[in-house]
Parts: sequence; structure tokens; C-alpha cells
Amino acid sequence: MKLADTKATLSFSSGSPSVELPVYSGTVGPQVIDIRKLYAQTGMFTYDPGFLSTAACQSSITYIDGDKGELLYRGYPIEQLATQCDFLDTCYLLLYGELPNAEQKQKFDRNVTIHTMVNEQMQFFLRGFRRDAHPMAVMTGLVGALSAFYHDSTDINNPEHREISAIRLIAKMPTLVAMAYKYSAGQPYIYPKNSLSYTGNFMRMMFGTPCEEYEPNDVLVRAMDRIFILHADHEQNASTSTVRLCGSSGTNPFAAIAAGVACLWGPAHGGANEAALNMLHEIQKNGGVDKIGEFIKQVKDKNSGIKLMGFGHRVYKNYDPRAKLMQETCKEVLGELGLENDPLFKLAMALEKIALEDEYFVSRKLYPNVDFYSGIVQRAIGIPVSLFTAIFALARTVGWIAQLNEMISDPEYKIGRPRQLYDGATRRDIKPIAQR
Ligand code: CMC
Repeated sequence: MKLADTKATLSFSSGSPSVELPVYSGTVGPQVIDIRKLYAQTGMFTYDPGFLSTAACQSSITYIDGDKGELLYRGYPIEQLATQCDFLDTCYLLLYGELPNAEQKQKFDRNVTIHTMVNEQMQFFLRGFRRDAHPMAVMTGLVGALSAFYHDSTDINNPEHREISAIRLIAKMPTLVAMAYKYSAGQPYIYPKNSLSYTGNFMRMMFGTPCEEYEPNDVLVRAMDRIFILHADHEQNASTSTVRLCGSSGTNPFAAIAAGVACLWGPAHGGANEAALNMLHEIQKNGGVDKIGEFIKQVKDKNSGIKLMGFGHRVYKNYDPRAKLMQETCKEVLGELGLENDPLFKLAMALEKIALEDEYFVSRKLYPNVDFYSGIVQRAIGIPVSLFTAIFALARTVGWIAQLNEMISDPEYKIGRPRQLYDGATRRDIKPIAQR
């Protein structure tokens, strides 16, 4: 961050003295006005519910240009990462700032691999849940519970603890997601197998049984790995900001990541992939492609409360680049499985086409986001719909931990404490109950 040549002057129609505010430039993207001294200078706060104009931190991890439809992790375009790297390369990049060389890759992959097993006691903890519990309820509990199992890596102010907890979280998330699935399906847990890749191992823990050997399919493993890469980080979104705010109190990394999992669950965020697939099922059930017009009409009616799930984004006001890659993967997976004529995929393509030609979506710059096609891919792979958001949480864990570690190691970091515009009752006295 460097001081820009310009300064911002804030003046008041009331005649109060104006104030000069420093303006900073990043490497790319909009400049920011530093308002940290505003309250001390004017006695006023800024007001920005939903953080529409607020940069809450300084970060060098991920950059999004919403108008161009560009997503960069540490400067590398998502298209290059999705086609030339695997998920563990992406994890290394997000955590340490550079892609690994061959030796670093071998060491990092090995380090993650040898931490995939979870404490055996975790399965007894899991047994406390109802079998029909939503996987995100289970994941919020399991991730939070990690802090009760790994006491030796809970000091967020200790860089070594931060490093070990990062590796543990990345390594154990697939094991926990697969355990949550196996528990709901009433099948035995499958232990990790260290000879497999990160994603191949996850697929085996999900779909293998003790009865016969499971051979991961390369196309499906690559598709799942791409889902992980595309979801790995997305700068200061709701769950990442939750992790930062939660971690800013000095709580342990497992607790902070559990807060991120809880936030991600909502349908406006990570829960959108589940909601998008349920929406497609619903349209299909009610008449399919012929009923798209009727559905779009409902979406445009503000009173209906219906949204086109998997469409729209706070930052992307052009096509979400992840959606393009996901659509490509969708075609590959359906081709591999002989499902080219999958009715939901056809419905999704038709719905996208109609929406993109409609004035309502065009004028509001609403385009498909990553979740529009990711549900179709996951369903084809065999992932149950209710597990989609847990898979997103698995992938986003590295982004959360990279952002948390960046915040804690920043010498300027402070506990997060927003202020408010209070419009409640002014001071008053309690009356005796008979007079209220
Ligand atoms: N369907 C219909 N109308 C929409 C949609 C949609 N999916 N998204 C936005 N709009 C309308 C909205 O009603 C508003 O209209 P108007 O100006 O007439 O009031 C306008 O577009 C601007 O929307 P907004 O709600 O102010 O935009 P936002 O930046 O606050 O919300 C969003 C972004 C992602 C929450 C929203 O687009 C949405 O709810 N989309 C559906 C859920 C979804 O797919 N979420 C996944 C996001 S990507 C994965 C992730 O990062 O978690």
C-alpha cells in the first residue's frame, strides 16, 4: 500500500472545518480513503451496511476485477491455475505467496498427506449427531471440535502453531466431510490412504466401502480438484470476513474456521449451489424447459421472494470466470459418464440463455456465478445435494486460513469492532410494573 499523490478533502455543509484524508493505492484496483482518524477529527463515523464501499483490510492474497470478470490468486489468473496446477499447488500458493518448486511441492504434499487422519475419538463425537442432521450443522460442530483435539496448535500468536493448524485443517477437512457423509448414509468410515492424491483420497473416502477396492476415475478426480481450486479463495466475502473478525479476538484457528463454515452455510453464499440445484429440480418437476418463462416471471416479481439461484454476485458485474470453467468441467464430466443428455444440464443451459437475454438480468448485470453449474457436476459425480456446501467449505478452508494468518501477522492488526448509527430509544427510566 502506498500513499497516493492525491488526498481527499471532506467538507461539511454545516460549516464544520473540513478534514483532509490520506488516499492509498494498491498494486491494482480502486484506491482507498483512510478514514481511521475520522472519528477523532470529526466525532463522526462512516455508514456502510453490507460493506458496499469499505475495504476492511489490506491483503495480497486474491484480487477480483468484477467488471472484467477477472480472478487472480497471488497474481495468477484462475484459468491458468485451473488448467495447469492442482489443488495442493493452489493451497501452497495461497498460504506462502508463490507456487512451489518440485522439491517444495513434494514436501508440502507429503506434509498434508501425513495429517489426513483424525483423532479416533472424533467418530464418537460425530455419533452424537442425528443421522439426518444437515452436513453443514455437522461440519460446524466437527471443525469447532478440532480445537478440543489438537491443543498443541491453538495459539494463534505463535507462527509455528499457525503453520501446523493450517496443514491440519487442509488435510483433515476431506476426512471430516467424508465421515459426515458416511455417517448419514449409515456406512462405515473409510480411513485415508496415503498413496492417493489429495482429491483421489477424498473420493475414495466418500465412495469406497470395506467390501471392495475403489479405483478413482481420473476425469472425475480432476473435476473435483477443479471445484476445489475454483472455491479456494475469493477475497473478503462474507465467510472470510467472518473468519477474520472471529480470529481478530485472538481465538484459536479451529474456532475461527468453524465460524466461517457457519457463515458459508447461508443460501446467499455457499448454500447457493444446493439452492441452485433444488431450483432446477423444481422447474424440471413442474414442466422443465417449457416452464422457464413462467419461472423467470416469478423471479422478476419482487413480491414472490424467488431468486434465480446461482445468478448474480456482489463483485462480478460481468461473467464470473469460475462459472465458465465450471461449465467446461460440467461438459467433461457428463461426457465421461455418458450423461450428455442430462435433463438438468439442458435445463440449466436453456435457463442461462433466456436469463442472459432478458432486460431484467442485463440491466442489473446479473450473470451465472460458480454455483450455477457446480451442483450439476457434483450430482453427476455422486455427491448428495445436501453435501455440496460442505465441499465448498473443504475447498475454502485454505483461503480462510491464509487470510487469517495474513491478518494475525500484520503488525497493524487490531480486534475488529465496527460502530453503529444508533436509532433506538434515548435514555429513559424504568417505571414500576403497574404503570407500564
Ligand atoms: N435473482 C433475481 N434478482 C436478483 C438476483 C437473483 N439471483 N441477484 C440480484 N438480483 C437483483 C436484486 O433483486 C436487485 O434488484 P433491484 O435493484 O431491482 O432491487 C439487484 O439485482 C441487485 O441485487 P442485490 O441483492 O443488491 O445485490 P447484492 O450484491 O447485494 O447480492 C447476491 C449479491 C449474490 C447475494 C445476489 O445476487 C443473490 O442472492 N444471488 C443468488 C444467490 C447466489 O447465487 N449466491 C452465490 C454467490 S457466488 C458463491 C459465493 O461467493 O458464495
